[in-house]
Amino acid sequence: MTEGQFGLLDTDDVDSPGDEWEEVDVSDTEADRIARKRDREFSEFRERIKDADQFKVEASVFDDATYGALYKLVQDGHIDAFGGPISTGKEANVYTALSGETEVAVKVYRINASDFKDMRSYLDGDPRFEGIGSDKKKVVTAWVRKESSNLKRARRAGVRTPEPIAVERNVLVMEYLGTEEGRSKRLSEVHIENPETAYEVVKEYTRRLYDAGLVHGDLSEYNIVFHEGQLYIIDLGQAVTIHHPNADDFLERDCRNVANFFARQGVDATPEELLAYVREYATPKDKTDTAPGSDDDAVPQGTPADRHEDE
Ligand SMILES: Nc1ncnc2c1ncn2[C@@H]1O[C@H](COP(=O)(O)OP(=O)(O)O)[C@@H](O)[C@H]1O
Ligand SMILES: [Mg+2]
Repeated sequence: MTEGQFGLLDTDDVDSPGDEWEEVDVSDTEADRIARKRDREFSEFRERIKDADQFKVEASVFDDATYGALYKLVQDGHIDAFGGPISTGKEANVYTALSGETEVAVKVYRINASDFKDMRSYLDGDPRFEGIGSDKKKVVTAWVRKESSNLKRARRAGVRTPEPIAVERNVLVMEYLGTEEGRSKRLSEVHIENPETAYEVVKEYTRRLYDAGLVHGDLSEYNIVFHEGQLYIIDLGQAVTIHHPNADDFLERDCRNVANFFARQGVDATPEELLAYVREYATPKDKTDTAPGSDDDAVPQGTPADRHEDE
């Protein structure tokens, strides 16, 4: 990274925290119906995907309705061709795909991921998820919808994030941060030539998120991507609204991760200073909009370390 590459987005058009959460009917999805119906075209699609090299490993862990979701995304014109895997995380795999001429990123949550139990506990105590019970499919569906709405909310607040394009059951299609050569690198992977500027940007992003009523909950150099000279915040599935009982703990942890990372890069940054800055200069505009139950707050009980096997 070189000096002067980052520019903050204008916040002129920033909305106050609103109710982006759409009621989720997670009882049955189009993907489930497609998987049940099993017409010939879908069956052929499923077999083709299962045989495709990039899905080979995952074929055993994707349930039929995941193929149904991918099929629906193809039918709806969001995906025209599947590309290679970008990342295999604890709960989700990320792939590239083509949408027309444009490359997109496809995040597929594995319904049977071993860490699913964590995710279930994240939602406990959130009134909007009360009826969900322990049905894995419903929990994951709600989670993916929340990730999409968190991304939108962050973008409206002037934070660079991938633009969400479509959501189907356990699959999120979003803007791809990368080039034909591959995905853009995480902050943990690049040499930062101007860490002071980068820190200022992340600091401002943290403040803007809080201002918009959100705490990321897993903010670190692993969920910040350096793309086309700018910093992007990713992985907002677990983000909570500021009224969440654990919001303060998450904010403290986010500030600790960020400040300690930049301190290691030689920046004069401390968790305390970052936290104080965010608390002092963020004024969530309408607290009622971020009250529990009014929006997209879910309940992380602790966020797992960010580990992936990159392909
Ligand atoms: N929109 C995207 N464009 C490019 N790469 C992405 C995108 N989303 C995720 N990735 C890559 O995939 C990795 C895992 O995605 P992430 O959303 O952080 O999921 P996880 O929950 O597995 O950490 C990221 O660290 C990043 O390298
Ligand atoms: Mg991540």
